[in-house]
Amino acid sequence: MAVATVIPMTSAHAIEAEHLVKHFGDTVAVDDVSFVVPQGTVLGLLGPNGAGKTTTVRMMTTLTAPTAGTARVAGHDVLTDPRSVRRSMGLTGQAATVDELLTGRENLRLIGQLYGLDSRYIKRASDDLLERFSLADAGDRIAKTYSGGMRRRLDLAVSLIATPPVLFLDEPTTGLDPRSRVELWDVLRELVADGTTLLLTTQYLEEADQLADNIVVIDRGTVIAEGTPLELKDQSGAAALVVTVSQARDLEAAEALMRPHVREVHVDAGARQLTAPAEGLGHMTRVAAIFDESGIVLDDIGLKRPSLDDVFLHLTGHRAEERGAADPATAPETGDAGAGDTDHSRETVR
Ligand SMILES: Nc1ncnc2c1ncn2[C@@H]1O[C@H](COP(=O)(O)OP(=O)(O)O)[C@@H](O)[C@H]1O
Ligand SMILES: [Mg+2]
Repeated sequence: MAVATVIPMTSAHAIEAEHLVKHFGDTVAVDDVSFVVPQGTVLGLLGPNGAGKTTTVRMMTTLTAPTAGTARVAGHDVLTDPRSVRRSMGLTGQAATVDELLTGRENLRLIGQLYGLDSRYIKRASDDLLERFSLADAGDRIAKTYSGGMRRRLDLAVSLIATPPVLFLDEPTTGLDPRSRVELWDVLRELVADGTTLLLTTQYLEEADQLADNIVVIDRGTVIAEGTPLELKDQSGAAALVVTVSQARDLEAAEALMRPHVREVHVDAGARQLTAPAEGLGHMTRVAAIFDESGIVLDDIGLKRPSLDDVFLHLTGHRAEERGAADPATAPETGDAGAGDTDHSRETVR
Protein backbone atom coordinates (compact mmCIF):
# COMPACT_ATOMS: atom_id res chain seq x y z
CA MET A 1 0.00 0.00 0.00
CA ALA A 2 1.30 3.37 -0.90
CA VAL A 3 2.32 5.55 1.96
CA ALA A 4 1.37 9.13 1.49
CA THR A 5 4.41 11.35 1.48
CA VAL A 6 3.84 14.50 3.38
CA ILE A 7 5.37 17.33 1.47
CA PRO A 8 5.75 20.40 3.62
CA MET A 9 3.67 23.27 2.34
CA THR A 10 6.78 25.32 2.13
CA SER A 11 8.70 23.00 -0.16
CA ALA A 12 8.06 25.09 -3.25
CA HIS A 13 9.31 28.22 -1.57
CA ALA A 14 12.95 28.97 -2.14
CA ILE A 15 12.86 31.86 0.31
CA GLU A 16 10.63 32.52 3.29
CA ALA A 17 10.75 35.49 5.60
CA GLU A 18 8.78 34.95 8.77
CA HIS A 19 7.97 37.93 10.96
CA LEU A 20 11.43 39.40 10.62
CA VAL A 21 12.20 42.24 12.98
CA LYS A 22 15.42 44.21 13.39
CA HIS A 23 16.12 46.96 15.86
CA PHE A 24 19.24 49.10 15.92
CA GLY A 25 19.02 50.77 19.30
CA ASP A 26 15.87 52.86 19.07
CA THR A 27 15.64 52.50 15.31
CA VAL A 28 13.18 49.90 14.13
CA ALA A 29 14.72 49.10 10.76
CA VAL A 30 12.49 46.12 9.97
CA ASP A 31 9.17 45.64 11.68
CA ASP A 32 7.51 42.26 11.17
CA VAL A 33 8.22 41.49 7.53
CA SER A 34 6.91 38.22 6.08
CA PHE A 35 6.79 36.94 2.52
CA VAL A 36 7.58 33.87 0.44
CA VAL A 37 9.34 33.48 -2.88
CA PRO A 38 8.32 30.44 -4.93
CA GLN A 39 11.13 28.53 -6.54
CA GLY A 40 12.23 29.81 -9.93
CA THR A 41 10.57 33.19 -9.55
CA VAL A 42 11.74 36.74 -8.99
CA LEU A 43 10.69 38.77 -6.00
CA GLY A 44 11.23 42.50 -6.12
CA LEU A 45 11.61 44.02 -2.67
CA LEU A 46 10.74 47.58 -3.50
CA GLY A 47 11.07 50.58 -1.28
CA PRO A 48 12.71 53.97 -0.94
CA ASN A 49 16.05 54.59 0.69
CA GLY A 50 15.94 53.66 4.37
CA ALA A 51 12.90 51.41 3.99
CA GLY A 52 14.69 48.38 5.46
CA LYS A 53 15.58 46.47 2.28
CA THR A 54 19.26 45.89 3.00
CA THR A 55 18.59 44.95 6.61
CA THR A 56 16.00 42.41 5.48
CA VAL A 57 18.45 40.90 3.00
CA ARG A 58 21.20 40.81 5.61
CA MET A 59 19.00 38.86 7.98
CA MET A 60 17.98 36.44 5.24
CA THR A 61 21.60 35.85 4.23
CA THR A 62 22.91 35.27 7.78
CA LEU A 63 24.92 38.50 7.84
CA THR A 64 23.00 39.93 10.74
CA ALA A 65 20.85 38.26 13.40
CA PRO A 66 17.15 39.13 13.51
CA THR A 67 15.87 40.78 16.66
CA ALA A 68 12.86 38.51 16.19
CA GLY A 69 11.46 36.21 13.53
CA THR A 70 13.40 34.04 11.15
CA ALA A 71 13.92 33.21 7.50
CA ARG A 72 14.53 30.11 5.45
CA VAL A 73 16.54 29.78 2.27
CA ALA A 74 16.12 26.60 0.23
CA GLY A 75 14.41 25.16 3.30
CA HIS A 76 17.27 25.94 5.69
CA ASP A 77 16.67 28.14 8.68
CA VAL A 78 19.01 31.11 9.09
CA LEU A 79 18.99 30.71 12.87
CA THR A 80 19.47 26.97 13.21
CA ASP A 81 21.38 26.13 10.05
CA PRO A 82 23.24 29.19 8.76
CA ARG A 83 25.91 27.09 7.03
CA SER A 84 23.40 25.38 4.79
CA VAL A 85 21.80 28.73 4.06
CA ARG A 86 25.15 30.13 2.94
CA ARG A 87 25.80 27.08 0.79
CA SER A 88 22.46 27.54 -1.00
CA MET A 89 22.77 31.18 -1.88
CA GLY A 90 24.75 33.85 -3.59
CA LEU A 91 24.70 37.49 -2.58
CA THR A 92 25.64 40.64 -4.37
CA GLY A 93 25.60 43.52 -1.96
CA GLN A 94 24.92 47.15 -2.60
CA ALA A 95 28.61 48.01 -2.56
CA ALA A 96 30.82 46.18 -5.02
CA THR A 97 32.93 43.58 -3.29
CA VAL A 98 35.39 42.79 -6.06
CA ASP A 99 39.06 43.09 -5.27
CA GLU A 100 40.23 45.93 -7.48
CA LEU A 101 43.82 44.81 -7.61
CA LEU A 102 42.98 41.37 -8.93
CA THR A 103 41.91 40.62 -12.47
CA GLY A 104 38.36 39.56 -13.18
CA ARG A 105 39.50 35.98 -13.56
CA GLU A 106 41.50 36.09 -10.31
CA ASN A 107 38.46 37.43 -8.45
CA LEU A 108 36.46 34.47 -9.69
CA ARG A 109 39.21 32.02 -8.77
CA LEU A 110 39.57 33.46 -5.28
CA ILE A 111 35.90 33.02 -4.47
CA GLY A 112 35.78 29.61 -6.13
CA GLN A 113 38.65 28.51 -3.88
CA LEU A 114 36.88 29.89 -0.83
CA TYR A 115 33.96 27.66 -1.73
CA GLY A 116 36.34 24.72 -2.01
CA LEU A 117 35.66 24.14 -5.69
CA ASP A 118 38.26 22.22 -7.67
CA SER A 119 40.57 24.21 -9.87
CA ARG A 120 39.54 22.61 -13.17
CA TYR A 121 35.94 23.38 -12.41
CA ILE A 122 36.84 26.95 -11.44
CA LYS A 123 38.71 27.46 -14.70
CA ARG A 124 35.79 26.24 -16.78
CA ALA A 125 33.15 28.11 -14.79
CA SER A 126 35.20 31.31 -14.91
CA ASP A 127 35.47 31.14 -18.69
CA ASP A 128 31.72 30.60 -18.92
CA LEU A 129 30.86 33.41 -16.57
CA LEU A 130 33.25 35.91 -18.14
CA GLU A 131 31.74 35.07 -21.51
CA ARG A 132 28.19 35.32 -20.26
CA PHE A 133 28.75 38.68 -18.63
CA SER A 134 30.59 40.11 -21.64
CA LEU A 135 33.85 40.26 -19.72
CA ALA A 136 35.82 37.73 -21.74
CA ASP A 137 38.11 40.38 -23.20
CA ALA A 138 38.59 42.11 -19.87
CA GLY A 139 39.06 38.95 -17.81
CA ASP A 140 42.80 39.35 -17.49
CA ARG A 141 42.77 43.05 -16.67
CA ILE A 142 42.71 44.21 -13.06
CA ALA A 143 39.24 45.17 -11.90
CA LYS A 144 40.41 48.68 -11.11
CA THR A 145 40.32 49.41 -14.83
CA TYR A 146 36.69 48.30 -15.16
CA SER A 147 33.73 50.62 -15.64
CA GLY A 148 30.94 50.66 -13.07
CA GLY A 149 28.81 48.37 -15.20
CA MET A 150 31.67 45.91 -15.66
CA ARG A 151 32.31 45.78 -11.91
CA ARG A 152 28.67 45.08 -11.20
CA ARG A 153 28.72 42.28 -13.76
CA LEU A 154 31.90 40.85 -12.27
CA ASP A 155 30.32 41.07 -8.83
CA LEU A 156 27.37 39.12 -10.07
CA ALA A 157 29.59 36.59 -11.86
CA VAL A 158 31.54 36.06 -8.63
CA SER A 159 28.37 35.39 -6.68
CA LEU A 160 27.42 32.76 -9.27
CA ILE A 161 30.61 30.74 -9.35
CA ALA A 162 29.25 28.19 -6.90
CA THR A 163 25.96 28.00 -8.88
CA PRO A 164 23.68 28.81 -5.97
CA PRO A 165 20.01 28.01 -6.51
CA VAL A 166 19.00 31.18 -4.70
CA LEU A 167 20.42 34.59 -5.42
CA PHE A 168 20.05 37.79 -3.43
CA LEU A 169 20.84 41.04 -5.18
CA ASP A 170 20.78 44.25 -3.21
CA GLU A 171 20.12 47.12 -5.59
CA PRO A 172 22.00 45.47 -8.45
CA THR A 173 21.67 48.35 -10.86
CA THR A 174 21.89 51.37 -8.60
CA GLY A 175 24.51 53.72 -9.98
CA LEU A 176 24.57 52.13 -13.42
CA ASP A 177 23.92 54.04 -16.60
CA PRO A 178 20.69 53.12 -18.41
CA ARG A 179 22.41 50.92 -20.98
CA SER A 180 24.30 48.85 -18.39
CA ARG A 181 21.10 48.56 -16.43
CA VAL A 182 19.23 47.08 -19.37
CA GLU A 183 22.13 44.72 -20.08
CA LEU A 184 22.11 43.49 -16.50
CA TRP A 185 18.37 42.95 -16.65
CA ASP A 186 18.90 40.66 -19.63
CA VAL A 187 21.51 38.65 -17.74
CA LEU A 188 19.17 38.32 -14.78
CA ARG A 189 16.34 37.13 -17.00
CA GLU A 190 18.64 34.42 -18.36
CA LEU A 191 19.54 33.28 -14.87
CA VAL A 192 15.91 32.99 -13.95
CA ALA A 193 15.14 31.14 -17.16
CA ASP A 194 17.78 28.64 -16.03
CA GLY A 195 15.93 28.07 -12.77
CA THR A 196 17.56 30.45 -10.31
CA THR A 197 15.30 32.00 -7.68
CA LEU A 198 16.01 35.67 -7.37
CA LEU A 199 15.31 38.21 -4.70
CA LEU A 200 16.31 41.67 -5.70
CA THR A 201 15.88 44.90 -3.83
CA THR A 202 15.36 48.05 -5.74
CA GLN A 203 14.34 51.66 -5.43
CA TYR A 204 13.55 51.67 -9.11
CA LEU A 205 9.90 51.10 -9.69
CA GLU A 206 10.54 50.35 -13.32
CA GLU A 207 13.09 47.70 -12.43
CA ALA A 208 10.63 45.78 -10.28
CA ASP A 209 8.10 46.13 -13.07
CA GLN A 210 10.56 44.76 -15.63
CA LEU A 211 11.91 41.82 -13.68
CA ALA A 212 9.71 40.76 -10.83
CA ASP A 213 6.99 38.12 -10.84
CA ASN A 214 5.91 39.44 -7.47
CA ILE A 215 6.60 42.66 -5.68
CA VAL A 216 6.68 43.34 -1.97
CA VAL A 217 6.60 47.05 -1.26
CA ILE A 218 8.18 48.08 2.02
CA ASP A 219 8.20 51.47 3.59
CA ARG A 220 9.52 52.33 7.06
CA GLY A 221 10.26 48.68 7.80
CA THR A 222 6.83 47.26 7.07
CA VAL A 223 5.18 45.62 4.10
CA ILE A 224 2.62 48.03 2.72
CA ALA A 225 1.58 46.08 -0.36
CA GLU A 226 2.35 42.98 -2.36
CA GLY A 227 1.25 41.40 -5.59
CA THR A 228 2.20 41.10 -9.21
CA PRO A 229 3.16 44.33 -10.96
CA LEU A 230 -0.22 44.27 -12.68
CA GLU A 231 -2.12 43.76 -9.45
CA LEU A 232 -0.32 46.63 -7.81
CA LYS A 233 -1.08 48.89 -10.73
CA ASP A 234 -4.71 47.87 -10.65
CA GLN A 235 -4.89 48.78 -6.99
CA SER A 236 -4.11 52.35 -7.76
CA GLY A 237 -7.08 52.80 -10.03
CA ALA A 238 -8.04 52.64 -13.63
CA ALA A 239 -6.19 53.85 -16.67
CA ALA A 240 -6.48 57.41 -17.92
CA LEU A 241 -7.22 58.88 -21.31
CA VAL A 242 -4.59 61.49 -22.01
CA VAL A 243 -4.87 64.06 -24.79
CA THR A 244 -1.96 66.36 -25.60
CA VAL A 245 -2.75 69.39 -27.74
CA SER A 246 -0.09 70.87 -29.98
CA GLN A 247 -0.84 74.49 -29.16
CA ALA A 248 -1.38 75.75 -25.63
CA ARG A 249 -3.95 78.25 -26.94
CA ASP A 250 -6.19 75.34 -27.99
CA LEU A 251 -6.41 73.95 -24.45
CA GLU A 252 -9.59 75.74 -23.47
CA ALA A 253 -11.41 74.80 -26.66
CA ALA A 254 -10.20 71.24 -26.31
CA GLU A 255 -11.51 71.03 -22.80
CA ALA A 256 -14.95 72.33 -23.87
CA LEU A 257 -14.98 69.86 -26.72
CA MET A 258 -14.05 66.92 -24.55
CA ARG A 259 -16.13 67.63 -21.47
CA PRO A 260 -19.49 66.25 -22.72
CA HIS A 261 -17.84 62.97 -23.64
CA VAL A 262 -15.99 62.14 -20.42
CA ARG A 263 -16.91 61.79 -16.76
CA GLU A 264 -14.43 64.44 -15.67
CA VAL A 265 -11.44 66.17 -17.13
CA HIS A 266 -8.28 67.47 -15.58
CA VAL A 267 -6.25 70.16 -17.35
CA ASP A 268 -2.49 70.38 -17.05
CA ALA A 269 -1.58 73.61 -18.82
CA GLY A 270 2.16 73.13 -18.50
CA ALA A 271 2.06 69.77 -20.21
CA ARG A 272 -0.73 70.90 -22.62
CA GLN A 273 -2.59 67.83 -21.46
CA LEU A 274 -6.18 66.87 -20.71
CA THR A 275 -6.65 63.78 -18.61
CA ALA A 276 -9.91 61.90 -18.12
CA PRO A 277 -10.90 58.50 -16.77
CA ALA A 278 -10.49 55.99 -19.58
CA GLU A 279 -13.51 54.03 -20.71
CA GLY A 280 -11.92 51.63 -23.14
CA LEU A 281 -10.47 51.72 -26.62
CA GLY A 282 -13.74 52.51 -28.38
CA HIS A 283 -14.18 55.55 -26.19
CA MET A 284 -10.70 56.76 -26.99
CA THR A 285 -11.33 56.31 -30.71
CA ARG A 286 -14.53 58.36 -30.49
CA VAL A 287 -12.78 61.17 -28.66
CA ALA A 288 -9.99 61.08 -31.24
CA ALA A 289 -12.56 61.37 -34.06
CA ILE A 290 -14.18 64.38 -32.38
CA PHE A 291 -10.83 66.14 -32.21
CA ASP A 292 -10.17 65.22 -35.82
CA GLU A 293 -13.35 66.96 -36.96
CA SER A 294 -12.73 69.98 -34.75
CA GLY A 295 -9.49 70.90 -36.42
CA ILE A 296 -7.64 71.10 -33.07
CA VAL A 297 -4.24 69.59 -33.70
CA LEU A 298 -3.09 66.96 -31.21
CA ASP A 299 0.42 65.84 -30.43
CA ASP A 300 -0.83 62.67 -28.88
CA ILE A 301 -3.83 60.80 -27.64
CA GLY A 302 -3.57 57.60 -25.68
CA LEU A 303 -4.42 55.44 -22.72
CA LYS A 304 -2.09 55.55 -19.79
CA ARG A 305 -1.88 52.74 -17.27
CA PRO A 306 -0.92 53.78 -13.79
CA SER A 307 2.81 53.45 -13.27
CA LEU A 308 4.36 51.93 -10.21
CA ASP A 309 5.14 55.50 -9.24
CA ASP A 310 1.43 56.18 -9.11
CA VAL A 311 1.06 52.99 -7.11
CA PHE A 312 3.63 54.12 -4.59
CA LEU A 313 1.94 57.47 -4.23
CA HIS A 314 -1.40 55.79 -3.79
CA LEU A 315 -0.09 53.40 -1.13
CA THR A 316 2.06 55.70 0.92
CA GLY A 317 0.73 59.15 0.24
CA HIS A 318 4.16 60.23 -0.90
CA ARG A 319 6.23 59.75 -4.00
CA ALA A 320 9.15 57.39 -3.58
CA GLU A 321 11.74 60.07 -4.29
CA GLU A 322 10.40 62.41 -1.63
CA ARG A 323 12.01 60.28 1.03
CA GLY A 324 15.38 60.24 -0.67
CA ALA A 325 16.92 62.37 2.01
CA ALA A 326 16.04 59.81 4.66
CA ASP A 327 18.53 57.99 6.73
CA PRO A 328 22.16 57.25 5.91
CA ALA A 329 23.02 54.19 7.92
CA THR A 330 26.27 54.19 9.73
CA ALA A 331 28.98 51.58 9.99
CA PRO A 332 28.25 47.88 9.70
CA GLU A 333 27.67 46.11 12.95
CA THR A 334 30.83 44.73 14.39
CA GLY A 335 31.23 41.01 14.15
CA ASP A 336 29.28 40.79 10.93
CA ALA A 337 30.73 38.89 8.01
CA GLY A 338 32.60 40.78 5.36
CA ALA A 339 30.00 41.10 2.63
CA GLY A 340 28.19 43.76 4.63
CA ASP A 341 27.22 46.91 2.94
CA THR A 342 26.03 50.19 4.23
CA ASP A 343 26.52 52.21 1.15
CA HIS A 344 23.66 54.62 1.26
CA SER A 345 25.46 57.28 -0.64
CA ARG A 346 23.91 56.49 -3.97
CA GLU A 347 21.14 58.42 -5.58
CA THR A 348 17.50 57.76 -5.00
CA VAL A 349 14.55 56.95 -7.17
CA ARG A 350 14.25 58.43 -10.57
N1 LIG B 1 24.07 49.12 11.11
C1 LIG B 1 23.08 49.99 11.37
N2 LIG B 1 23.06 50.68 12.52
C2 LIG B 1 22.05 51.54 12.81
N3 LIG B 1 21.01 51.78 11.99
C3 LIG B 1 20.97 51.12 10.82
C4 LIG B 1 22.00 50.19 10.45
N4 LIG B 1 21.71 49.68 9.24
C5 LIG B 1 20.54 50.27 8.87
N5 LIG B 1 20.10 51.13 9.81
C6 LIG B 1 18.87 51.92 9.75
O1 LIG B 1 17.79 51.05 9.48
C7 LIG B 1 16.90 51.62 8.56
C8 LIG B 1 16.79 50.73 7.33
O2 LIG B 1 18.01 50.75 6.63
P1 LIG B 1 18.32 49.84 5.39
O3 LIG B 1 17.91 48.45 5.67
O4 LIG B 1 19.73 50.05 5.01
O5 LIG B 1 17.32 50.46 4.30
P2 LIG B 1 17.36 50.37 2.70
O6 LIG B 1 18.32 49.29 2.33
O7 LIG B 1 15.97 50.11 2.31
O8 LIG B 1 17.83 51.72 2.23
C9 LIG B 1 17.44 53.00 8.25
O9 LIG B 1 16.77 53.91 9.09
C10 LIG B 1 18.88 52.90 8.60
O10 LIG B 1 19.40 54.14 8.99
MG1 LIG C 1 19.94 49.34 1.07
